[in-house]
Amino acid sequence: GLVTTKEILRDAYQNHYAVGAFGAHNLEIIKAVIAGGEELGAPVILQTTPGTIKYVGINYMKAMAEAAAEVAKVPVALHLDHGDSYDTVIKCLRAGYTSVMIDGSTLPFAENINLVKKVVEAAHSAGVPVEAELGTIGGVEDDLVIEDVKALLTDPDAAEQFVKETNIDSFAPAFGTAHGMYKEEPKLAFDLLDDIYNRTDCPLVMHGASGVAAGSVQRALDFGVTKVNFSTELKDVFAEEIRRFFHEHPEQNDPRKVFVPARNRVTNLVKAKIDMLQGTCKV
Ligand code: 13P
Ligand code: ZN
Ligand code: NA
Repeated sequence: GLVTTKEILRDAYQNHYAVGAFGAHNLEIIKAVIAGGEELGAPVILQTTPGTIKYVGINYMKAMAEAAAEVAKVPVALHLDHGDSYDTVIKCLRAGYTSVMIDGSTLPFAENINLVKKVVEAAHSAGVPVEAELGTIGGVEDDLVIEDVKALLTDPDAAEQFVKETNIDSFAPAFGTAHGMYKEEPKLAFDLLDDIYNRTDCPLVMHGASGVAAGSVQRALDFGVTKVNFSTELKDVFAEEIRRFFHEHPEQNDPRKVFVPARNRVTNLVKAKIDMLQGTCKV
């Protein structure tokens, strides 16, 4: 069955490699992601935003992920990405998610802490680990739109206090990445990340990894980054392959044919990302 991200991430944190967390929007992408993990023998995290849950249906999502995990040859976790409220988290816990993120990053510091504490209490009593964010990651993630000027790097003092007081299981700092693709190669604040790594004892999460160069992602793994989130690039290759398919076969109507090349492209992308994340494994 599904495992929690706590089990997956603690090992990665101690051994300096990272696990890919992939935005899973439908059955095809779920199967594609798991196939990629299996081909490389790597655990995978399937993650869904509130927008995806609304589109798929929470019980369908849980059932598909559970069915996938049942036969997968690698550990699989089902994670709520950018949980938008306590209520959404509770729904995910009831549905059987094995990991949740609460995103209170747009709230004032004290309110963010209070919300995260409340979520941690509920999630931990269900045996489910919690990810939370401090600072503001720019870009567009579903209904979450943060203009670049409002993106704000995480303050390391605040990070230390935040992680200590909330008792979260993984921490997403803002250190220069953004959701979506980039106009130019982002400059990541590695000194800041190093500082946060030294002041916390908690697996760190890189959001917005689509479009970040492999070298930059791998450098972040030296500073405690253990979960790396990819969404936009998966959507891009999936859509690109469907467009190509219909260009070549405009009369095709069979879903069992239409999605096959798209699924394979996603698997190849997932493999490339996992390769990148395991490339600096020091054990
Ligand atoms: P990208 O869309 O840039 O890959 O970001 C994904 C993400 O951070 C999901 O939480
Ligand atoms: Zn994100
Ligand atoms: Na990105």
